[in-house]
Amino acid sequence: MGKARSIYACTECGAQQPRWLGRCPECGGWSTLVEERSGPAPGESAARELAVEDAGARGETSKPRRLAEIDADAVPRIETGIAELDRVLGGGIVPGSVVLLAGEPGVGKSTLALQLAAGLRGAPVLYVAGEESPEQIRLRADRLPALPEALIVLSETNVEALAAPWREAQPQLVLVDSVQTLRSERVESAPGSVAQVRESAALLSATAKAHGAALVLVGHVTKEGAIAGPRVLEHLVDVVLQLEGDRFHAFRLLRAHKNRFGSTQEVGVFQMGGAGLEAVANPSELFLAERRGGAPGSCIVPLLEGSRPMLVEIQALVAPAGYGTARRTAIGVDDARLSLLLAVLDRRAGVDLLNTDVYASAVGGVRIREPGADLALALALASSRLDVALPADAAACGEVGLGGEIRRVAHLEARVAEAARLGFRQLLVPAGAHDGLSAPRGARLIPVASLGDAVAWLRSTGVHETAPAR
Ligand code: TYD
Ligand code: MG
Repeated sequence: MGKARSIYACTECGAQQPRWLGRCPECGGWSTLVEERSGPAPGESAARELAVEDAGARGETSKPRRLAEIDADAVPRIETGIAELDRVLGGGIVPGSVVLLAGEPGVGKSTLALQLAAGLRGAPVLYVAGEESPEQIRLRADRLPALPEALIVLSETNVEALAAPWREAQPQLVLVDSVQTLRSERVESAPGSVAQVRESAALLSATAKAHGAALVLVGHVTKEGAIAGPRVLEHLVDVVLQLEGDRFHAFRLLRAHKNRFGSTQEVGVFQMGGAGLEAVANPSELFLAERRGGAPGSCIVPLLEGSRPMLVEIQALVAPAGYGTARRTAIGVDDARLSLLLAVLDRRAGVDLLNTDVYASAVGGVRIREPGADLALALALASSRLDVALPADAAACGEVGLGGEIRRVAHLEARVAEAARLGFRQLLVPAGAHDGLSAPRGARLIPVASLGDAVAWLRSTGVHETAPAR
């Protein structure tokens, strides 16, 4: 090992500084720089990959080629056998690529990694386990629908020690669970530190590229983007997948935040059950399974996740405020959008909500990010306030502007079709988008130009539960 030197690395963004600073010049974080003892200085470093000999794939020097003559379809892909995962990856995992599978602890990363190994059917896979014993991994594998027959488990956290098993197994896929447990002899810092994580990952990814093996690095992130979080790896890997979900709900969404081999628009939907992660072919049906139609304070919105429409229920509860400032609680919907819609409802649609406690939630642990859900949220709020239920077969989609106008949303046709497919017959859509749109069979489009229009429709069509509210 060369002469050790100190550097200071930011625990938030991973930027390195030659001396300590109170504030990271890259990301602006305060007190985020920590001292790292790094290994050889740049230039001293001998090999950039593990000495895994005899893979055959090495030694290809790169030649200049005409872009027009390069066949993009020639990118080989290994199908993982998990359709939802293949979709997010862009058609399968690319040999020689590095995938970071990130997520909060307990969300199901290790489970997905094992299922991926089983899906490759017979291809040699090396599973580097830094967190669990081989017995624990076997226990988990026994719950899954298929046992990964050709999986070789290795309990090891020392990166350099992976060279020999790698050479022996000649794996097509190497899974590392988790990247935070790795350490390399080239760096003196503690395992889990920024320098260790980055160096180990760089070493493994150079090795994987040289040998044409796909590498999947499992990484933990906490809600705060914890120390040495996988964010420092994002530039180093080809694909960043994030497994999201609320551990108290069964749904898991798999998104690509970065993908050098495909779109970042696609989403995989899974359900965590007794036998691992199960693909959900019809997310809408799942999200609506426990719905009690015809109750005030509920509205269905067709969201779009990637290219896939998904019906989600938004619920609101409006109650007279207690002492002091009114409470606003939002779960799965954006706080700022909620406040904005309350103000617009009050000022533009004559629904008085300013002195009431308001609770709003997206059902099923879904997190709604798109403004296309505004109209449905506003209708759920108005419905609760007025004690008027929307018709059970109504759904709404549209963005609400500060003037109370209803704005268009992308891919309305696909959303409307999904809503109609699941039996929703009254579909509120932005008036501006109505012309070019034909109603799906058996359903009726109700164009609304303003939030005032939508509330008027609710008052006239809705089901009055009790006497209209005060
Ligand atoms: P795990 O894959 O260990 O999560 P991570 O690696 O992201 O920390 O699994 C997390 C949870 O999933 C765990 O609490 C148990 C649960 N689980 C099931 O519900 N069904 C199953 O078949 C398996 C394997 C796990
Ligand atoms: Mg795990």
